[in-house]
Amino acid sequence: MRKVIIDCDPGIDDSLALMLALSSPEIEVIGITIVCGNTPVDMGFENAKKILKFIHRLDIPIYKGATQPLKKPYVDALDTHGADGLGESFLDPVPGYEQKMDAIEFLSKTLKQEPCTVIAIGPMTNFAQLIAKDPAAFEAIDTFISMGGTYKAHGNCSPVGEYNYWEDPEAAKIVYAHTKMIHMIGLDVTRQIVLTHEILDAWEPKNKKVTDFIRKITSFYFTFHWHQEHLKGCVINDPLAIAYVIDPSICSGFKAYTDIETDGITRGESVVDAYDFYHKPANAKILTQVDVSKFFTLFESRVIDHEEN
Ligand code: BDR
Ligand code: CA
Repeated sequence: MRKVIIDCDPGIDDSLALMLALSSPEIEVIGITIVCGNTPVDMGFENAKKILKFIHRLDIPIYKGATQPLKKPYVDALDTHGADGLGESFLDPVPGYEQKMDAIEFLSKTLKQEPCTVIAIGPMTNFAQLIAKDPAAFEAIDTFISMGGTYKAHGNCSPVGEYNYWEDPEAAKIVYAHTKMIHMIGLDVTRQIVLTHEILDAWEPKNKKVTDFIRKITSFYFTFHWHQEHLKGCVINDPLAIAYVIDPSICSGFKAYTDIETDGITRGESVVDAYDFYHKPANAKILTQVDVSKFFTLFESRVIDHEEN
């Protein structure tokens, strides 16, 4: 079974990603690290606990990481994810869970011990801090998947900026400069993963409890997407990064040298040298194609048909 660490900022779609990961037998989640992003890090920690409680997996350790981006002032995404970061579902707090160490310490200690896949579905501040503190631990990462960036698709918080890279572009730049190969699950593929009311209606008879829970945390997200871009549904980015690890045939793309812009109107832009102008070794696999129906079939079979739900 593949050992996985999920670095996240829950977050509505991060929560769906955790639900998918923890219902999938191909992967063993050995830890969840939290970064400030959609929510401040303390709120992200509390939200992760709420999700783990719902799926009866409070055995999974959670570690809080960075509270601020490296250089830019922190900007949350509560306008997108609701005042509680979980679509204003205001789930009950989960008391009595202590973190044993901070996220950077956990990553530093764990990554050198055993081959591990990292799935980063928030800003990459924790990994930039890890590179500064313990570069050997970062180099030991077996496979690094990042939900973030965009190749040809429009940005979601500026014309060219995807939120995770826009939020901490210096961190993203450092990670791209140090990675052997990063798998970029950007908006080109995630914008196609649109959860609709029709999909939820079809899930309901199979598993009302889980479908009700998903409705509860996504209803705010539906409204946000309608106001923002008149979309009848919501884009659930983060679970696609998990699905890609479970079944890499869900996405395909190409390898290219990639760097991240940090300032001005292009802040957070992922610049992909698709035509090899710079003759630099490829450091990224840019995923551009996605089998949408394969994704939803996988999500349904794991999260909705899951026997313990
Ligand atoms: C990314 O930004 C966040 O709002 C989502 O959780 C996702 O990780 C999409 O741009
Ligand atoms: Ca996220």
